[in-house]
Amino acid sequence: MQTLDDWTQKYLSRPPLTRGDILPLLSLSDPAPLFRKADSIRRRFVGDGVYLRALIEFSNYCKNDCMYCGIRRSNAQAVRYRMTPNEITHTARQAVAAGYKTVVLQSGEDLWFDADKMSDIIRRIKNLGAAVTLSLGEKTREEYAAYRKAGADRYLLRIETTDKNLYEKLDPAMSWDNRVRCLEDLKELGYEVGSGSLVGLPGQTLESLAEDLLFFKSLPVDMAGIGPFIPHPHTPLAQEKADGHFELSLKMMAIMRLMLPDINIPATTAMETLHPQGRLLALQCGANVIMPNVTAETFCKNYELYPGKPHPGARAAAAWQEQLASIGRSVSAGYGFHGDYLKEQRAAR
Ligand code: 5AD
Repeated sequence: MQTLDDWTQKYLSRPPLTRGDILPLLSLSDPAPLFRKADSIRRRFVGDGVYLRALIEFSNYCKNDCMYCGIRRSNAQAVRYRMTPNEITHTARQAVAAGYKTVVLQSGEDLWFDADKMSDIIRRIKNLGAAVTLSLGEKTREEYAAYRKAGADRYLLRIETTDKNLYEKLDPAMSWDNRVRCLEDLKELGYEVGSGSLVGLPGQTLESLAEDLLFFKSLPVDMAGIGPFIPHPHTPLAQEKADGHFELSLKMMAIMRLMLPDINIPATTAMETLHPQGRLLALQCGANVIMPNVTAETFCKNYELYPGKPHPGARAAAAWQEQLASIGRSVSAGYGFHGDYLKEQRAAR
């Protein structure tokens, strides 16, 4: 068995960041040194490659009513759509042909897609040779087990906030404990688990954001998607502001990278809504994954979780190369499972 180099070993043997370390970092008035540190840790632990995941937003029906979300059940102005299983697999096939190694299937909590229908779609996409990531919300353990049996590799379920009171205030019909149960079930079933939080929710404190990071460390997550909260005009939070959420999200990503140096951290799409270079900046503050939306415009224009969501249309994986090269990065060829980079480094030595 090969050993890690000294520098990597030394970093890993340091005690984990405590609550007391995190708060001052979140409050930094000049976060540039934090961002630089996160960038160098990112390079050391996951390399300069960026993993691309093709995102298919296949249904915006949702049984939930989260106050921040544009596809909440009571938003009567949302135009609802549901792609057929054939449309979903067709889109996945095109993404694989365009060079994507992972397909992410995301939807609102839509009961039309029961475990049998989902399992069938998962099997069809796995047959294309792609890794499959699901982002379908809260399900029973049995459903998670069925998807896994069908071949699903990863599951994304943001905790949104670890402040249980705030979480349940934002959708009184939902249970924070059940969400944690879901994450634990997913871990036990052998998924690579992605979680994450919304940054800037009304009533959210820096202390609670620090708790979010400690929660991700304790699971631990394989991936953490940190996104700024952007008020949607057709929700009860329409009057809230998004000021400061961009920089605070960058700080969260950077600290996350220091705490869990080898996990996957996406440069979330919402960052681009708040800043034209949002995703490239995130990639320089700890992130190493991009999830380009490959859903047909007719559908994804109505997947409006928040306003101003960019829908650039499907792009070949190779077309990202140029943009990434401008910041000294490149598209990674592999599947990009948690820890792959360090394993490759060790094997090469
Ligand atoms: N602003 C930013 N992100 C949002 N999401 C939902 N609503 C909003 C919003 N108004 C995020 C949630 C969810 C993910 C799919 O989209 O964090 O987990």
